[in-house]
Amino acid sequence: MKDLKDIKNRAEKEVSSARNNETIRQVFQKYLGKKGEVTLILRSLKDLPEKKRKEIGKLANAIRQELEEKITIKGRAIGAKVERNKPKKRIDFSFPGHKLTTGHLHPITQVEREVEDIFQRLGFSVIEGPEVESEWYNFDALNIPANHPARDMWDTFWLRSNQKIPISKFQIPNKSKIKNKNQNLLLRTHTSPVQVRYMEKHNPPLRIIVPGRTFRYEATDASHEINFYQVEGLMVDKKISAANMKAIMERFFEMFFRQSAKIRLRPSFFPFTEPSFEVDVRCLICGGKGCSVCSKRGWLEMAGAGMVHPQVFKSAGLNPRNWQGFAFGMGLDRLTMMKYKIDDVRLLYKGDLRFLEQF
Ligand code: PHE
Repeated sequence: MKDLKDIKNRAEKEVSSARNNETIRQVFQKYLGKKGEVTLILRSLKDLPEKKRKEIGKLANAIRQELEEKITIKGRAIGAKVERNKPKKRIDFSFPGHKLTTGHLHPITQVEREVEDIFQRLGFSVIEGPEVESEWYNFDALNIPANHPARDMWDTFWLRSNQKIPISKFQIPNKSKIKNKNQNLLLRTHTSPVQVRYMEKHNPPLRIIVPGRTFRYEATDASHEINFYQVEGLMVDKKISAANMKAIMERFFEMFFRQSAKIRLRPSFFPFTEPSFEVDVRCLICGGKGCSVCSKRGWLEMAGAGMVHPQVFKSAGLNPRNWQGFAFGMGLDRLTMMKYKIDDVRLLYKGDLRFLEQF
């Protein structure tokens, strides 16, 4: 009993002389904390005979209560909160949250992935080729010889011949029999060179698409960019006809635009296909009646295509008598613009967030 009174006196003095948070906390710990003096006495009660236990217990509890009160009052006075448990934080559920801004894929990338997905479901593999290409693959191998007027179809960015680009990457595998490969470098003007690159290494039957960036040395306007994206298609087997091509392309457009699609082929010319076609899709906006999007024609030009020219098979080291195939080239930018009704291709390359955030 005497000890207890002693403790009480000491504790009270210490409380009243405490001047800051830290000391008041220490006082609390010293007497009322887990191993505090009062706490220990209260804990030892169970070992005492009943009479003593009641007596001491009563006093010890009273002291504990009193001390607690004093400490709390003192603590409040110096702006401290000395409580056994920290008060639970209150959450204001009506408070507006932080908006997390996350990036997302560029619309062309989204469209590219969707195109890949659709063609993969139709049994095509996705293949890539280099953006820096040799003159041979971009032109000669595709039946477009130097000085031939057909080269005018593709305005080309040529690279200086002293440019240090590891040319070995672009060298022709020995399977091909053609000599004197033209190794001037350029930025590929289309994805068609990958037709030859792939067929050099893989025997038919084959079904591939080649998405990728292409370049043209042109003035830019609402429908022309100096760099843009194409997706090339190539299907080769023993007996492949233009009817197969029409079926595959029609199916693709239906899956891509999620509505029934009708296509038509118009005669055209590409040096690497024979016969060659322009592939039109019936206008998705007016259904063929004629509107501003299709310039009253009722049809939208979506791709160049044709049956693989024998010379292309030869360039790849294949015997054209054994194989038939079709190829097509579509503008991914064009597909993106049709899908999202964008009227200026330059928007796709400006990096303007006000535009991009809409996708
Ligand atoms: N490569 C052609 C272009 O860029 C498109 C095309 C590809 C045409 C395949 C026919 C076959 O214009």
